Amino acid sequence: MAAFDPWDPAFVADPYPAYAELRARGRVIRHEPTGQWLVPHHADVSALLRDRRLGRAYLHRFSHEDFGRTPPPPEHEPFHTLDGHGLLDLEPPDHTRVRRLVAKAFTPRTVERLVPYVRTLADELVSGLAAAGGGDLLTDVAEPLPVAVIAEMLGVPESDRVLLRPWSAAICGMYEPNPPPEAARRAVSASVEFSDYLRGLIAARREAPGDDLVSALIAAHDEDDRLTEQEMVSTCALLLNAGHEATVNATVNGWWALFRDPGQLAALRADPTLVPAAVEELLRYDTPLQLFARWVLDDIEIDGTVIPRGAELALLFGSANHDPAVFTDPGRLDLARRANPHISFGAGVHYCVGAPLARIELAASMRALLAKAPAMTPVREPERKPGFVIRGLAGLPVSL
Ligand code: HEM
Repeated sequence: MAAFDPWDPAFVADPYPAYAELRARGRVIRHEPTGQWLVPHHADVSALLRDRRLGRAYLHRFSHEDFGRTPPPPEHEPFHTLDGHGLLDLEPPDHTRVRRLVAKAFTPRTVERLVPYVRTLADELVSGLAAAGGGDLLTDVAEPLPVAVIAEMLGVPESDRVLLRPWSAAICGMYEPNPPPEAARRAVSASVEFSDYLRGLIAARREAPGDDLVSALIAAHDEDDRLTEQEMVSTCALLLNAGHEATVNATVNGWWALFRDPGQLAALRADPTLVPAAVEELLRYDTPLQLFARWVLDDIEIDGTVIPRGAELALLFGSANHDPAVFTDPGRLDLARRANPHISFGAGVHYCVGAPLARIELAASMRALLAKAPAMTPVREPERKPGFVIRGLAGLPVSL
């Protein structure tokens, strides 16, 4: 039996067989080691993401004590302050107010204007990889592309961009189930450094505004106080982290999936018009963000089981994306799959605001790699990153 065990490297390497067993067991399954309720079916994940009886946060309605939860230790405060005031962890009406401001920068039309820049950058990075005869797809292409794009949008100077990956990686350690004390310590010190850095950046842009998102958020804050200083710091951190982390992983997960399916890779190389559908199918097939949690703010009932206020649901995106009730032959990579209602960008009020940008970036790097590295092959089986929630590779060495 393939067990659901987020700390087992074998499960992390391939969680999909365990998901099939969870789906067969029921619609909601209690998981004692995390105290969460696992939700493995597509229809439920999709409906619950839209259900306002659930929240990403609960402190807007309850204290930790009222909610039956132990407050986090005081030494974790810098992490929770940074994490808890960004767009993703706000709830309406605060969420609605901040989302409106941020969404302006990410509408499909605004993002469409970035296409030439993103394509040029992708071409340059892939040309570098080609000139070297190979390298690491992770560090040579997958990371620098989305990091540069989101840093450029926020106005982070080029010399500071090396700081972003380590901060993001340390903070992401807290999103894994039951993070160990060492991961928490790293996340806390990254939160302190990142917050200080962003306060400095905001102060500099306040002095000398530019044509960037930080300056736009400052203008909104200063004009009619629509964003608190902490919301601004937290939302900038969120944008910088979310703006690259999943895209990096989706790029390498996607290429590793292609390398393992030579038939599909050959079809893609023969017909690059498949790129948009391939991007969607790869996001489904190996889901970069496997789990998002929700708090139960008011009792709900799933399949006859009452889940009480204070409980935590683990919505299993990777499982939803492999649910045969929605996807024919879900374990097969099918770049020509027509209906593809994958849930990789979420749903409901927190639906990924960066989805149009992520799609542009993933398509640009894929097109550049197909054109300039037509014989790219992996050098060896890549090492996986240990995390389950944030699914990625530690590197993807390739030769051309
Ligand atoms: C393949 C790449 C990406 C994936 C798979 C992804 C996935 C997601 C998901 C699933 C959520 C919702 C989480 C939840 O409901 O709890 C989300 C939210 C978010 N994403 Fe993305 N994302 C990606 C790229 C990006 C990019 C490029 C940005 C750039 C700005 C971004 C910014 C955000 C933000 C700010 C939110 C919070 C939205 C809100 O709470 O209203 N993401 N993302």
